[in-house]
Amino acid sequence: MKKLNILVTGGAGYIGSHICHDLIELGHNVIILDNLSTGLEENLHPDSVFIQGDVRSKFDLSKAFDKKVDVVFHFAAWKAAGESMFEPFKYFENNIFGTMNLLEEMILNNCKNFVFSSSAAVYGSPEYLPIDEKHPKKPLNYYGYTKLAIEDNLEWMSSLKGINYAALRYFNATGYDVKGRVTGKEKNPANLSPIVMEVAVGVREGMQVFGDDYDTKDGTCFRDYIHVNDLASAHILAMNYLLEKKSNLGVNLGTGTGWTVLDVIKEVEKVTGRNVKFDVVGRREGDPAGLIASANLAYEKLGWSAKHSDLNTIFSSMKGVYLP
Ligand code: UFG
Repeated sequence: MKKLNILVTGGAGYIGSHICHDLIELGHNVIILDNLSTGLEENLHPDSVFIQGDVRSKFDLSKAFDKKVDVVFHFAAWKAAGESMFEPFKYFENNIFGTMNLLEEMILNNCKNFVFSSSAAVYGSPEYLPIDEKHPKKPLNYYGYTKLAIEDNLEWMSSLKGINYAALRYFNATGYDVKGRVTGKEKNPANLSPIVMEVAVGVREGMQVFGDDYDTKDGTCFRDYIHVNDLASAHILAMNYLLEKKSNLGVNLGTGTGWTVLDVIKEVEKVTGRNVKFDVVGRREGDPAGLIASANLAYEKLGWSAKHSDLNTIFSSMKGVYLP
């Protein structure tokens, strides 16, 4: 395979760092642009070129494009859906403006291949399950809107400027590297899996379960949890797709299986041998009862399917980080 120069924005972050390790093991040159606002230096692969900088800065971007870049993987973004409803301009500036800035720099430097970290949040409340790519896109939060706005702009920049893009819509990203290469714990996590792990290891005394009166098998919400190594493999396949087919792609990344909040808590207790203390409280605003992906299109287009996303593998990989 040809050795490529690949720019990874947010490559010190949770998902980006996993992909960087895989790209470097495949023999590619990886340049990481990360402002370390949430990313961690310990996640950086020693063979990557690290630039501490920001996608909102033309000056920082010009350093990142100093050498010819063949492909850009874009992870640098804010991702807390709840916060985005209180601080929309923060999300506009980093997610939408930052991405447009990056795309402009790519176009100026004749780089055409863009792999984009999108989200199931673009769909909003499910009108049917599993959610396929034809599902209406009506985000319920501003975060989801930023991802949709970027996808729309990618379509424009594809027709106006010849960009090839892959928009990968993650369902509930979780787990840690099964090979143990990434060990940096997310700071102040807001998602279920790291919160449950923090309770199991005693970083938190307890947690809240948001509602047990949903129309589900145990009354708690279910989600489609997808292991970060499965996300990483999809990114590599998507890059190869762009390079070979020179056309665009928008696909869901999930397993097609839903696990409830109580399933997750029970699995963490089993894997860690610790008790997870929780209180059931009222529903969290904006939570749909269940979300599951149809990942058929990702299989059809990329030959991708999840390999590490059973709950036991997910939480065993997290145990390696939280209880080393
Ligand atoms: N939950 C709790 N207690 C907590 C945290 C979460 O009960 O302390 C519950 C939530 O109510 C929900 C489930 O656990 O039912 C999962 O919640 P997360 O906050 O981990 O994830 P969401 O499903 O709300 O959202 C995540 C990402 C979004 C993305 C979406 C796609 O954060 O960006 O998955 O499926 F769009």
